[in-house]
Order: sequence, then structure tokens, then C-alpha cells
Amino acid sequence: MKTAKRASSADFVLRPMTRDDLSQVMRIERASFDHPWPRSSFEQELVTPISRSLVACRREDRARVVGYVVRWHVADEIHLLNLATAPSTRGRGLGRRLLRWLLSEARRRRVSVVLLEVAEANATARALYESAGFTIVRKRRDYYGPREHALVAQWVPT
Ligand SMILES: CC(C)(COP(=O)(O)OP(=O)(O)OC[C@H]1O[C@@H](n2cnc3c(N)ncnc32)[C@H](O)[C@@H]1OP(=O)(O)O)[C@@H](O)C(=O)NCCC(=O)NCCS
Repeated sequence: MKTAKRASSADFVLRPMTRDDLSQVMRIERASFDHPWPRSSFEQELVTPISRSLVACRREDRARVVGYVVRWHVADEIHLLNLATAPSTRGRGLGRRLLRWLLSEARRRRVSVVLLEVAEANATARALYESAGFTIVRKRRDYYGPREHALVAQWVPT
């Protein structure tokens, strides 16, 4: 009997985010965070010159959004502002692929550091960032609410 092939990160392509993607992006955003960004935040990022947002889509259907990354390039730093993948596609390398894109852009642009903030309790994202070479440089206590601490992590190109 033939079984359905499980998608791998090679089955996805990355392209710039557009306003037409935002209803799908918002579905993933709401499914991913306790404090999701409002749609207006993504709209603002799309018109901010220092900001760049990419979506990941299925190779065979480039209108179907399954993940995204939003970053700022400010001075000689890149700030990772948002990263999420659709719950149904997690664990297949897509989050790592989006992060790799960001780090290769950081190398290309010769920035001195990539910075991000992650909830201390977010073990999955922390494992991803740590395995990519990020180190924690600061803890912001009660940043998201009582006992909801944030960690600031950095990655320095070598
Ligand atoms: C964090 C997130 C983007 C990872 O996306 P993903 O598509 O599942 O990522 P990948 O399949 O590429 O996995 C990358 C790494 O994440 C970690 N990871 C993934 N799933 C995990 C799980 N269930 N438990 C622990 N670590 C896990 C592992 O380190 C994994 O690397 P490995 O496969 O070599 O072990 C995704 O879980 C997500 O969208 N979470 C909600 C939003 C969020 O927390 N964003 C980050 C905000 S800072």
C-alpha cells in the first residue's frame, strides 16, 4: 500500500510576504502565540524600509502560507522580530530553514550581530536558536506578564 510522503523543508519555498498573505499569516500567528501580533503590526512591517518579511509556501502551491519570518536590518544589526510555522508543518525543518535564511542574509550584509527575544518558557524555540549558535545575553523579568520572562539572545557571525 502506498503511504503519503511526509513533507520535508525541501518541499517549501520562501518568498516575500504581501498583504494578500495576511489572513493566512494571522491564522498561524494566533495559533502560535499567547500574545499574537495584530494584523496592523504585519501591515506596518510591510511598509517599513528597514523591515523585511518572508513567507514559506508549499512548492506546489505558492499561495498557501505555512510559515514566516520578520526581521529588521538596523545599523549593523539584524533583529529577528517574528518567526512561526503552521502547527501542521512543525518538526519538518521549516523553522530551521527560515532561520538559516536570516543568518545567511546576516553574513551577506556583514552585520555584526543578530538579536532576538524569546520567552524563557518556549523550550522549542530556545532549542532551535541554541542549535543554530545563539547565546543568551540578558533576561527580562516579567516582560510578557507576571513570571513570564523574556530572554535576549544573540548570534555573532564567525
Ligand atoms: C519554533 C518554531 C518556529 C519551530 O518551527 P519548526 O518548523 O517546528 O522547526 P524545525 O522543524 O526546523 O525544528 C527546528 C528545531 O526546533 C526544535 N524543536 C522542534 N520541535 C521541537 C519539539 N517538539 N520539542 C523540542 N524542540 C523542538 C529542535 O531543536 C529542532 O531541531 P532538530 O529537528 O534538529 O531537533 C515553531 O515551533 C513555532 O512556530 N512555534 C510557535 C511560535 C514560536 O514560538 N516562535 C518563536 C518565537 S521566538
